[in-house]
Amino acid sequence: MSVLNITGGPVSGTIRAHGAKNSVLPILAATLINKDVSIISNCPDLADVRSSIRILRHLGCKAEYSGCTVTVDSSDVTRADIPESLMREMRSSVIFLGAILARTGHANMSYPGGCELGTRPIDLHLNALKSMGAEFSEDGGNIECKASRLTGTEIILSFPSVGATENIMIAACAANGLTTIKNAAREPEIEDLQTFLRAMGADVSGAGTSTVYINGCMDKLHGANHRIMPDRIETATYLCAAAMAGGRIRIGDVVPEHNSAVLSALSETGCEITTERDVIELKRYKPLRPMRPIRTMPYPGFPTDAQSPIMAVCTRASGTTVFTENIFESRFRHVAELTRMGADIRVEGRVAVVCGVDRLYGARVKCEDLRGGAALVVAALGAEGVTTISHLTHIDRGYENLTEKLTSLGVNINRM
Ligand code: EPZ
Repeated sequence: MSVLNITGGPVSGTIRAHGAKNSVLPILAATLINKDVSIISNCPDLADVRSSIRILRHLGCKAEYSGCTVTVDSSDVTRADIPESLMREMRSSVIFLGAILARTGHANMSYPGGCELGTRPIDLHLNALKSMGAEFSEDGGNIECKASRLTGTEIILSFPSVGATENIMIAACAANGLTTIKNAAREPEIEDLQTFLRAMGADVSGAGTSTVYINGCMDKLHGANHRIMPDRIETATYLCAAAMAGGRIRIGDVVPEHNSAVLSALSETGCEITTERDVIELKRYKPLRPMRPIRTMPYPGFPTDAQSPIMAVCTRASGTTVFTENIFESRFRHVAELTRMGADIRVEGRVAVVCGVDRLYGARVKCEDLRGGAALVVAALGAEGVTTISHLTHIDRGYENLTEKLTSLGVNINRM
């Protein structure tokens, strides 16, 4: 099992953001419904992308990954099930449900189960598909789903779920008539999916707002080319790394406004931030100041995925920052590991109070989940001495070439 050894110290240099993990996954699922060839570029080489390709191949598609491009030929889909092993490999495989249903009229998969962030229910996905005419039977953790025909309808989500919005958008392409999603998620990844669906000939509009409209048009769909949008959470993570380490970073191939909430919070700590068309520059030479309370919210509010990396930054601020995690029920698993490095953090339910300390110390710590692992990398950059981070499979799910990128920023890091 490999580990990362990181020595704290300032950063300086320029990196480029890779494609968005949370945009690639639903778009690869959507390639199932066009019965043609799709070429998806700017795909990061991540474990979850590889898992998605394995699922597409299992279903009968030809799927190849070369360079940063995934080519999918979904002419022949021969199956409608996702085996438990693949579901376990990537719990967000549930994003394939709407696509498999739209393509084949039935689907069979095991409940994705919980993960480190909590129970991760999928009731919003299932209820929405039921309202479109899908029938479900469940036994022993397995979901059997049938939909001889899907009918467009109005769906009001009780929570603007990203995954549920995406599943409905894809399934609705095969429905008869108009599907309207109210209280839809507004994340940029929803807009990226809409761009791809439109390129395939689908009639989708409203993504990025709270109401998305999809007119069913299965027989008109065809293959398409698409370049995945930049990963706003990877970008936020490296901005936090530079804020913690001190020094200067430029990140290219980004969409600055996707990170407005994170940039606003980091500027409160004393970081100097400038943005150009597709570049964000952050400099930090003064001592870190604390931030106003951070409350994670659906987009465009503060993203839950950036909560743990920015909390690592706050552990060295000259004061107290209060965090409220409103999206997931268990997203403070990085706190115990940060306190091993000398951080002073108290957790009460969904609230974490971070009292800044003068110094953090390198320690042996382990990743508990993807973004919690990223927080440990950020903390290591502001710690004295060497931090050894284990259980790197979590980090490998969401950060391509992390060691190389940090090395190019002047960080003393090695992966053993
Ligand atoms: C997506 O997860 C992302 N994953 C997550 O990123 C991200 O944290 C999350 O959106 C919120 O932005 C991918 O896109 C692959 P949700 P998703 O459905 O779709 C509850 C990362 O680190 N809920 O918006 O699962 C749920 O329990 C990952 O890259 C229901 O109750 O998020 C949670 O509390 C982590 N019922 C809240 O909604 C449902 O049917 C947000 O979930 C679905 C969700």
